Amino acid sequence: METEDILMCPGPNEIADRVIRAMMRPAACPVYEEFQEFYEQTLDLLAQVLQTRHQVVPLPGSGRSGLESAITSVVERGERTLTIVNGQFGDLAMRIVNSIGGKGEGFTSPWGAPIDLEAFAAKLASGPYKLVTMVHNETSTGALYHAEAVARMAHEHGALFLLDAVSSLGGANLPMDAWDVDLVVSCNHKAIGAPIGHAYVAVNDRAWEAMEKRREPCGTLFGNLLTWKAQPSDIPAPGRALRRPQGVFTAVHLFYALHEALTMILEEGLPKRFARHLLNAAAFRSGITALGLQTITKSVEIASPTVTCVCLPDGITSEAFLHLFREDHGLATLPGIGEYRTTAVRVGHMGVTATPRNILHALHAFDSVLTKLGHQHDRGAAVTKAEEAYAEAETA
Ligand SMILES: Cc1ncc(COP(=O)(O)O)c(C=O)c1O
Repeated sequence: METEDILMCPGPNEIADRVIRAMMRPAACPVYEEFQEFYEQTLDLLAQVLQTRHQVVPLPGSGRSGLESAITSVVERGERTLTIVNGQFGDLAMRIVNSIGGKGEGFTSPWGAPIDLEAFAAKLASGPYKLVTMVHNETSTGALYHAEAVARMAHEHGALFLLDAVSSLGGANLPMDAWDVDLVVSCNHKAIGAPIGHAYVAVNDRAWEAMEKRREPCGTLFGNLLTWKAQPSDIPAPGRALRRPQGVFTAVHLFYALHEALTMILEEGLPKRFARHLLNAAAFRSGITALGLQTITKSVEIASPTVTCVCLPDGITSEAFLHLFREDHGLATLPGIGEYRTTAVRVGHMGVTATPRNILHALHAFDSVLTKLGHQHDRGAAVTKAEEAYAEAETA
């Protein structure tokens, strides 16, 4: 299958040519010492992106395999957990807890709105909870939440804190250690810009200790994170082989790609990369506003740097819009989720697509498709507004 589409999905998103080319290498046996060296180097790069000194565990699979492993590794049957549910993906963590016999409770907050931390504190006080979870960047609404305060509150109540960073890592600042997050879950195919197929869980000492102190053994063999825990005392000499065990055979070619994607991120530099995502997201939003459209997330303070969810005008369905967006402009993305399925579309601007070229292309496509579907607006205003935002940033 060949496609000329540009993926501006809320993940998976475009992959840089450099990253694709990195996979054009011969097969290697994952347990060879050379590959072990490369494996550990790649995980060190990942730790830099996570701004952590803790170990990062890679798991074959998608984002939810990381979430499921992290939750299953720390939560035991009957234990209570608290999840902030303010979109589709908070709900996912709670469903995982309940599926393994835990007692997952939700702190429900309106989609796309800031979290009421006072009300959350009151709910937390009705614990104790073993684990608190939240989504950093809610991909179903396009909102980025401040995790640091929630981590602190969870710890004050004796709970572990898990952050779902599936659609933020690589596109938004996430200093795991400075925020004292116990478990961070992310994956290849969103703002990291690598192919679908690997999730990762970064684990701090508090979370390892919880796994080691379980009353019952972990209910999953494949997803038990302890299988991956570094065993420095087992280092066979010479070399670093098996310093960090591979719980399963690593997807070697995905690691080649991941290594390249992480190298690109670190070459760009984290502050510059985060600023690039913020600028392109802001330019996109200003263009969308110029078309008279609204986004699901109303508050600019929590507007996501990686995903914007645009509400379509009355009478225009996401299906009709997305068909023309792709057919006429070569731009592929996804509809809203839940109650927004037919009335909104979600646009990803992360990694390769967080650039003026793609943002201006997408805004022109919005202008053109909406016109074709009968919407009245100021033609050309979206692109003009975004260009102004770029010009302003240049002179600032
Ligand atoms: C915030 C968030 N968490 C979890 C997931 C689940 O990840 P996956 O679909 O890769 O399993 C997604 C997917 O979009 C997501 O956006």
